[in-house]
Amino acid sequence: MAKRRTILITGGAGFIGSHVVRRFVRMYPDYHIINLDKLTYAGNLENLKDVEKEPNYQFVHGDICDLEMLRGLFADEGVDGVIHLAAESHVDRSIRDPFVFAQTNVLGTLALLQAAREYWENSESNFPRRFHHVSTDEVYGALQPGEAAFCETTRYNPHSPYSASKASSDHFVRAYHDTYGLPVVITNCSNNYGPYQFPEKLIPLCIHNICEGNPLPVYGKGENIRDWLHVEDHAAAIDEVFHRGKDGESYNIGGINEWKNIDVVKLLVRITDELLGRPVGTSDALITFVKDRAGHDLRYAIDAEKLRTELGWEPSHTFESGLRETVQWYLTHEEWVQHVTSGAYESYYASMYDSSKK
Ligand code: NAD
Ligand code: TYD
Repeated sequence: MAKRRTILITGGAGFIGSHVVRRFVRMYPDYHIINLDKLTYAGNLENLKDVEKEPNYQFVHGDICDLEMLRGLFADEGVDGVIHLAAESHVDRSIRDPFVFAQTNVLGTLALLQAAREYWENSESNFPRRFHHVSTDEVYGALQPGEAAFCETTRYNPHSPYSASKASSDHFVRAYHDTYGLPVVITNCSNNYGPYQFPEKLIPLCIHNICEGNPLPVYGKGENIRDWLHVEDHAAAIDEVFHRGKDGESYNIGGINEWKNIDVVKLLVRITDELLGRPVGTSDALITFVKDRAGHDLRYAIDAEKLRTELGWEPSHTFESGLRETVQWYLTHEEWVQHVTSGAYESYYASMYDSSKK
């Protein structure tokens, strides 16, 4: 059989990665899609049940920090492209345990870059090579209200251990381009929402707590502002940049959709109560202001003009309807939520793989 273009997607069992894997498996039947994931607490193969039997999909259980394993995988499978999403991704966890963020996000990315470089320098392919690093807007630091949105030339100024680790990984990706000529692209995206997000992040946490009648913890006064983008719009942007972005360039991805946290939580209360058939205002009293996050960035806002003008990408979901669909998804996937919140998926997959779960 002729060799197919082989794309290695890391972190494909996580929230955004599962949407990227699903999109690529379905849209590119000619590609061989390998999902490499360590299956930490955030990785759940239930997220990919609908594509796991597709002939162009393969799951590999492994750690991106394991350079020897990566060397073998690149050579055995003939990897032509990488879409790198594997990471520790939760700011609050990074405040509690920064080291694992440096390990996975920095050293793991470095190992992946090195494996790609060694393999691509020493082998030929009929397919273009590309290393796409998926990063965050948080590398740019925080904006004041009224300040211009982050663009690709905004100076990096990370504040949390999470954003510092992602900024560092971005620098290594650029260094591999500038030093060794590795064909890289970087995308820096704003906050994502949508199905399969682990309920430690604001939106799924609130939906779950509203259903259960538990407090909705709003940090500080709820005045912090985030730009929210539907995860499928992020996956579509990654598809565009992976295929048509220019080597060595970075692209900002965002929803042009800034919201104060308190307003997001109030909107979630309204939508969730309505979809549960509860009277308006039932869950208002659950909103609870709690101690602020240390070093909490005030505002993120993305200028995605470069992506729009150069590659024609536009978000297709509006926030109100995207959020409504997302709440509906969580309400109709109680089993998924129950497995994730109880940790049942971890013991299930731990029994299938010789797992090194945290
Ligand atoms: P997530 O935490 O839901 O998923 C991360 C995945 O990576 C999990 O499946 C996990 O098992 C896997 N993983 C972790 N360590 C690994 C390792 N050492 N080796 C192999 N796999 C490992 O994260 P997410 O929210 O889907 O974010 C994915 C990527 O997108 C991250 O790089 C993140 O920085 C970036 N990003 C996220 C957002 C957001 O709003 N969530 C926004 C912009 C960028
Ligand atoms: P989060 O979903 O953790 O994403 P990030 O920190 O990467 O932006 O948080 C989104 C915003 O919501 C952020 O300003 C912190 C805030 N937040 C709360 O107010 N309460 C919570 O329980 C959580 C998890 C977040």
